[in-house]
Amino acid sequence: MIMFRKGKNLKIFAPSDEAISKAAEIIRNGGLVAFPTETVYGLGANALDDAAIKKIFRAKGRPADNPLILHVTNMREASLYAVMNPVAESLMERFWPGPLTIVLCSNDNVPLSARAGLGTVALRSPMHHIALGLLKMSGTPIAAPSANKSGRPSPTTAETVWDDLGDGVDMILDGGRTAIGVESTVVDASGGNISILRPGRVTRKMLETVADVVPEGANRHRSPGTRHRHYAPSVEIRLWECEGLEVFQNAEKWCYVGMRIPPEGSMKNITFDTTEDYAQGLFSALRELESCGASVIIADFPDGAGLGEAIRNRLLHAACPQSVPPCE
Ligand code: TXA
Ligand code: MG
Repeated sequence: MIMFRKGKNLKIFAPSDEAISKAAEIIRNGGLVAFPTETVYGLGANALDDAAIKKIFRAKGRPADNPLILHVTNMREASLYAVMNPVAESLMERFWPGPLTIVLCSNDNVPLSARAGLGTVALRSPMHHIALGLLKMSGTPIAAPSANKSGRPSPTTAETVWDDLGDGVDMILDGGRTAIGVESTVVDASGGNISILRPGRVTRKMLETVADVVPEGANRHRSPGTRHRHYAPSVEIRLWECEGLEVFQNAEKWCYVGMRIPPEGSMKNITFDTTEDYAQGLFSALRELESCGASVIIADFPDGAGLGEAIRNRLLHAACPQSVPPCE
């Protein structure tokens, strides 16, 4: 088996068939494997093994009241764990495999620890050959939150998983930088309509092609993860919201991430040409900028619908930990 890197990163493996097969064995035996998806890296365990699920919460330092997503290969497998309805079926047919997580009423096959005691379960089939290969070889659904320490920006590279979790994980499959960069869209479809609990690459407009999207405010309490601080680097973040430059005027040692060109005086800039690129690079940029010596990260707050909604949501979480805004 090929060890991808030397030294402290001995747990990072190139995703050969042999490595994926070894990872599946670890999952079956109750261990933890970090793996790439099209959104961010996940920290996976056998979703039907209560002891393995508890290891995820320990490794991440995750509050026990924040439920996990069950990753499955397809709709047929999803139906073993959730109460299906026509809207859910349409969503799965249209967007799976892909960056959409669907919350449905759970059945008793899903351990309570995975769903944090709730009567619902979140399901997703990822569009990534390594993730799907691991799911197929494991022969079990895989519970996987993002593979970061709780409260840190989600990891978009294998190295970042190592930086956050190190020995807390048994094996890391390296699939390079993830394509989308922000986590999946989470919708609640348990009531036969759709409400957005977390915006992502599957946009409001895309969802509306399947069924009515009802206002998310009414469902805020239903996504426990929105109560906790998320996506936060260790230095202060301020948002550059509109045309005004006030946000730069009272900043001393600052750095910048975004799509517009900031004024002079930045210690470091990370800029992107498109909304897609901004989403893909946002979390790694936050991690890079927090160690550049600046005391403030100024982040461009994009307008517009679509993926811009997901970026705004993540930036609000990072910048306003007290107000904990959910899905705008
Ligand atoms: O893209 C993604 O979704 C990644 C990859 C690895 O698939 N996973 C991910 O998982 O972001 P996590 O645990 O970091 O975020 C899952 C979100 C949390 O906000 C959680 O509260 C919510 O989904 N969630 C999970 N189960 C739920 C449920 N039964 N009802 C409402 N929200 C739920
Ligand atoms: Mg997460």
